[in-house]
Amino acid sequence: MGLRNGTLEDGMAIADLFHGHRVHRLAYTSPEVFDLEMSRLFGKTWVYVGHASEVARPGDFKTTKIGREPVLLIRDDSEQVTVLFNRCAHRGAVVCRQERGSANRLRCLYHGWTYSTSGELVGVPFRQGYDDDFDPSELGLARAPRVETYRGFVFASLNPAVEPLTAHLGGARPYLDAAVDAAPDGEIVVTSGVHKHAYHGNWKLHLENFVDSYHPSFTHEATFARRVARTGVQPGRADTGSHNVALGHGHALIDYLAARDGPRRDRHGVNLAIFPNLLVCTPHRDIRIIRPIRVDFTETLTYHYRLKGAPVEVNRQAVRTTTLAIGAAGLVQPDDFEAYERIQEGLAVSCMDWTHFGRGLQREQVQPNGEIRGMGADEVGNRGQHREYRRLLLQEPRPCCTPDGTCRRAQAEVGALQASRA
Ligand code: FES
Ligand SMILES: [Fe+2]
Repeated sequence: MGLRNGTLEDGMAIADLFHGHRVHRLAYTSPEVFDLEMSRLFGKTWVYVGHASEVARPGDFKTTKIGREPVLLIRDDSEQVTVLFNRCAHRGAVVCRQERGSANRLRCLYHGWTYSTSGELVGVPFRQGYDDDFDPSELGLARAPRVETYRGFVFASLNPAVEPLTAHLGGARPYLDAAVDAAPDGEIVVTSGVHKHAYHGNWKLHLENFVDSYHPSFTHEATFARRVARTGVQPGRADTGSHNVALGHGHALIDYLAARDGPRRDRHGVNLAIFPNLLVCTPHRDIRIIRPIRVDFTETLTYHYRLKGAPVEVNRQAVRTTTLAIGAAGLVQPDDFEAYERIQEGLAVSCMDWTHFGRGLQREQVQPNGEIRGMGADEVGNRGQHREYRRLLLQEPRPCCTPDGTCRRAQAEVGALQASRA
């Protein structure tokens, strides 16, 4: 199958990947769709690359990717956080292989070209072999076209014309703010190691799962049984104790409510999925990055974050909880990976085209602030993710944002809702 004029080769249009609340299996299995995602999603929107506290001092760096493109998040000698393409100007080798570190110069393994922390070419071995036309100032590491930071979260975009980051974050901003404001000093810090995982499945499966409260009673049954045995407390039934929320612009949320049955409805944490690759879990205090590698292979990186100014024991407890849930021998996330791999395998069945995201469609409600809310185990958030996914794949303008930058999320999403019911 190949792409011709925006259609899949068998005549199926990209728009045919979506039918109301259903998504076609090819969105998860077709290498051509994956190629489109790399150019039209990861090449066009904001992508999370890391937290500023991971590169706290000049020369600190970490390597990551924007879609398929290797980049360096680095704090240069003037203390600016920048994102450089990790690609030597000589023959194209990746200059830095280390996942993280600190350096005052970056030297390419192949012929020794050497770059400063801000990407200038500062060293060329056996320089006398080049003539006067050779201009090192034109041969630095290229910079990502756009880099912006929000409350320490650093995003980059390959698209010079991308909207401002704050506009992209839109309805997710108050929740990111709340996550950071939970710190007594109003900052979070990422200095931990990383839990690295890979699974044989599509990257969207993790994005969707992060705001899926329908599955835990089943996928994580064994873990729940242990908890009941230990504490005697029965878990809440599906739909109680949380809301499932679409925030617009593809961002989504599980909003855990602290008082399950009482009059207080305080929030006691969120699973916040920032489209397309950042997941923030505030109860466990971890940040996860989704890295698509191939249509059926994905890496995920989980970093614990600390609340600056919080007592040591509070932060320690969160590290323990995260490791217990997320670690390679963890009690929760490995179960999810099993589910993703089963989905990837199951979607090879070619006589059944559709996956189903219809739970709670009839009862989701648009709030005055533009959020769409449903019951805990509804698939509201996933539908919101798919609206943005579809929009980007089809290269359509955002229906909710006017050219002056005002976002009319509520009205537009109501329209989308009604259309998807039709
Ligand atoms: S490829 Fe980097 S120095 Fe030659
Ligand atoms: Fe799960």
